[in-house]
Amino acid sequence: MNGKTVHIKNYGCQMNKLDTALVSSALKKAGFGLVDSVKEADVVLINTCSVRRHAEQRVFSHLGHLKHIKKRRPEMIVGVIGCMAQRLGTELLKHEAVDIVCGPAQIPQITKLLTETLQQKKKSLAVTEKIRKTTEKQNQTLEKFESAYGIEDKQIPGQAFVRAMRGCNNFCTYCIVPFVRGPQVSRAPAAVIEQIKRLAGQGVKQVTLLGQRVNSYKYRSSEKTYCLADLFEKASDIEGVEWIRFVTSYPSEEFFDEILQAMADSPKVCNYLHMPAQSGSDRILRAMNRNYTAEEYLQLLAKARAIVPDIAIAGDFMVGFPGETEADFEATVELVKKAQYKNCFIFKYSPRPGTTADKRLADDVPLEVKKSRNIELLAVQEKISDRLSAEYLGKQVKVLVEGLSKKPHLNVAQNTDTPQLIGRTATDHIVVFNGPESLAGQFAKVKITKTSPLTLFGELI
Ligand code: 5AD
Ligand code: SF4
Repeated sequence: MNGKTVHIKNYGCQMNKLDTALVSSALKKAGFGLVDSVKEADVVLINTCSVRRHAEQRVFSHLGHLKHIKKRRPEMIVGVIGCMAQRLGTELLKHEAVDIVCGPAQIPQITKLLTETLQQKKKSLAVTEKIRKTTEKQNQTLEKFESAYGIEDKQIPGQAFVRAMRGCNNFCTYCIVPFVRGPQVSRAPAAVIEQIKRLAGQGVKQVTLLGQRVNSYKYRSSEKTYCLADLFEKASDIEGVEWIRFVTSYPSEEFFDEILQAMADSPKVCNYLHMPAQSGSDRILRAMNRNYTAEEYLQLLAKARAIVPDIAIAGDFMVGFPGETEADFEATVELVKKAQYKNCFIFKYSPRPGTTADKRLADDVPLEVKKSRNIELLAVQEKISDRLSAEYLGKQVKVLVEGLSKKPHLNVAQNTDTPQLIGRTATDHIVVFNGPESLAGQFAKVKITKTSPLTLFGELI
C-alpha cells in the first residue's frame, strides 16, 4: 500500500466495465487501496460514456456533487477517464472539480498520472490528439496493459470480460464510438487465449468476448486468418471455461455461418445473439449508414434460427432519428414484431457532436414524439417477451449464479430461510430463485414456476 485510496465509479458499456477492472487492478498492484465510497477516497475516478447526451449529463451532475465535497476536502483528486475524457479533453479539465482527464487509449498511464497529480497538485490531460490515427506503438502499449491486468469481474464471481477487439471502423452516422475509441484493431488470438487461460486458472467459468462489432473479429497471421469462431474453438479447449459469450454483433454475413455453426456444435458457446437492428425503415437504415435492409436483417435472424433452433436473440433500436416519419416508425414496429426478440434495448436518438448525423441532419423529431415512440415500441416488445418467457414455465434451466438479487421480488418461496439469488441461463434469461449465497459463481439447476417479460422465477433443484 502507498497509503492512498481510490474509488472508481463506472458508467457505460461492457467495454468500460472491462477498462474499470483493468484500471482497478493496475492501481492495486501499484499499492493504492480500492474503496467503495467517495467518502473514504483520496482519489475518485469516473469512467465515462459519451454514447448519448444523457450519459454525459449524469457524469456532469456527479462532478457537481464532487465539487461540493472538494470544498471541504480540497486535497481530494478527481480523474475523468473513458470516452467523455477523449471527447471533451481540455473542456473537462476546466471543470472546477476535475484534476485529471485520461482517454481510453491512455489508461496504461493511469498510475503515473495519479502519482504525479498527488505529488504535484497540478491538472493533467492525457488524450490522443488524432484518435483515428493511432500508432503501432500505442496499440502495443494498450496490448501490454491489457494482457498484464486481465482480471475477473469481482462484482460477478466466476465471470470475466475479455476484449477481442478495440475501436470501430463502422461510422454509423449517429455514433460517437469511432471518434472516442479509435480504429478497429483485432487482438492477437494468442494474447486473447492466454488471458482466458489465466482467468480460468483463477476460477472464471464464463468469458464474454467484447468488440463493437465482435463478429467481424479478424486476425491475419503468417499461417492463417483467424475469425471469432477460431477463438471459440481455442477457448473451448481451456479447462474450467464452461460458457463463452460474445457481444455485440453487427448484422452482416461476414463470418456469420462460422459463428452460428460453432454455436450449434459447441456446448460451451452460449446460444445467445445480441444483434442491433436500430431501425426497420430502409430509408432510415441508409441514413444511418447501416448497409443492410430490414429484409436482409430478418434473413440473418432466420438463418440464425435455422442453424441454432433454440437461440435467443436481443436487439437495439433507436427512435427519433432525424427525419423519422410515422411510416418509418411503423416499419420499426413491424420489424420488432417479426424479429421475435427475447428482449430489446430502445433508445431515443441523441445527436453526438462531430458525427455525420449531427453535422448534416437536423434533430427534427420532437422529444415528445421520441418519448411516445419509445413507449409504444417497448409495449410491443413486452408482449413478445412475455409470450416467449411463458414458454419456460415448468421447464428446468441451468443458470450461472451471479449473487444476491438486488431487488428482492418476493414472489418465490416466501417462507424459505435462504435469500433470493439471481442467475442467467446460457440464453441470457434472468432467473430469480431462493438459495444459499454460497452458490454465487456456481452453476445451478432451477425449475421455472412463474414468468414475467424480463424475468423467470423458479425453485432450486
Ligand atoms: N443516440 C441514441 N442512441 C444511440 N446509440 C448509439 N448512438 C446513439 C445515439 N447517438 C444506441 C444504439 C447502440 C446502443 C449501444 O446505443 O442503439 O446499439
Ligand atoms: Fe461504451 Fe460507446 Fe459509451 Fe464508450 S461511448 S462507454 S464505447 S457505449
